[in-house]
Amino acid sequence: MSVHGHGSPDRHPEWRATLDDFQSGDEAMRLCLDLARVAARTELPTLILGETGTGKTLLARALHNSSRRARGPFIAFNSAALSDTLLDSQLFGHERGAFTGADRRVKGKFELADGGTLFLDEIADMSPAAQAKILRAVEYGEFERLGSEQLLDADVRLVTATHLPITRYKETEHFRKDLFYRISGITLRLPALRERPNDLASLMAAEIAAASAQLGKPIVGLSRHAADRLLGYGWPGNLRELKRVIHAAVAIAEGDVIEEAAILLEPEELDAPPAAASRPRAPAAGAADGDLSLRGAERRHIAAVLARFDGNKRRAARALGLARSTLDRKLAES
Ligand SMILES: Nc1ncnc2c1ncn2[C@@H]1O[C@H](COP(=O)(O)OP(=O)(O)OP(=O)(O)O)[C@@H](O)[C@H]1O
Ligand SMILES: [Mg+2]
Repeated sequence: MSVHGHGSPDRHPEWRATLDDFQSGDEAMRLCLDLARVAARTELPTLILGETGTGKTLLARALHNSSRRARGPFIAFNSAALSDTLLDSQLFGHERGAFTGADRRVKGKFELADGGTLFLDEIADMSPAAQAKILRAVEYGEFERLGSEQLLDADVRLVTATHLPITRYKETEHFRKDLFYRISGITLRLPALRERPNDLASLMAAEIAAASAQLGKPIVGLSRHAADRLLGYGWPGNLRELKRVIHAAVAIAEGDVIEEAAILLEPEELDAPPAAASRPRAPAAGAADGDLSLRGAERRHIAAVLARFDGNKRRAARALGLARSTLDRKLAES
């Protein structure tokens, strides 16, 4: 699927995507999409897990568009960094005079989503007070606007998302387990881009086509080296990063082929998973074994870098600034 644009809904063609617009040649993604189709046929609250940029928000929209609520509203809400009062009034609305500055009655997201889908993003970051209110709203379907005692109800299908892995999510101290179980009727796990090797080439091609059309460039493809760099990269920022890198490459490209110099990636160190920090490392290049030669230092450094990338020679070679064949030769010599 090709996805681009920003601004109003009309300039967001991907907001109209349904689950049928997603395709994948990778098992984990297919599993996720199959389960999403099941979720779309139900009214079950659905929790979407996935690293940043894996497409959680887009999947939530597609789920809504594929459900029988498709004609109803899709209301997305990200609570991160909102004070409790502001969050309350955003979620549940407020009456005129409910707090300083409340000069008119405002509907909350629950009310606005009536008959449709309410998408609560980064749910793990919500305060305990907000969680209690959300729990009541989803459990009993009732809530009140700030400054009012009148109980309101709304017919809302809840979809939530978080970038936290499920284990971390469950351990999160302040996160209510009862809310967790209430919102995870079905849990969809969006795989990271590095877990979708079979999809990478077609996603790249789709983005090149989209960016070329958008920028009016006659790009027909990638040089061999450019393609190798993109295919060998770890994509810590997932689809969002892929789009950014490819749009930049298309903008920079001078002929009809994208050359390697147009591929601007983050330094490879940044793409190691967070667990790398706690992974045992090989000793840094030092002379603990008494070997003071440059060859010895090089050997130790190569071993340390290999360990850093879990023995992945391709990534180690790139981090070392060596061709893969040169690394193989050096390893054979040592
Ligand atoms: N299947 C896909 N094909 C192409 N582009 C995609 C796909 N899924 C998502 N994208 C694009 O990747 C970017 C990130 O998607 P999205 O915002 O849905 O990710 P997210 O997981 O919600 O990220 P965050 O954790 O930051 O909220 C968007 O530009 C989106 O259009
Ligand atoms: Mg998102």
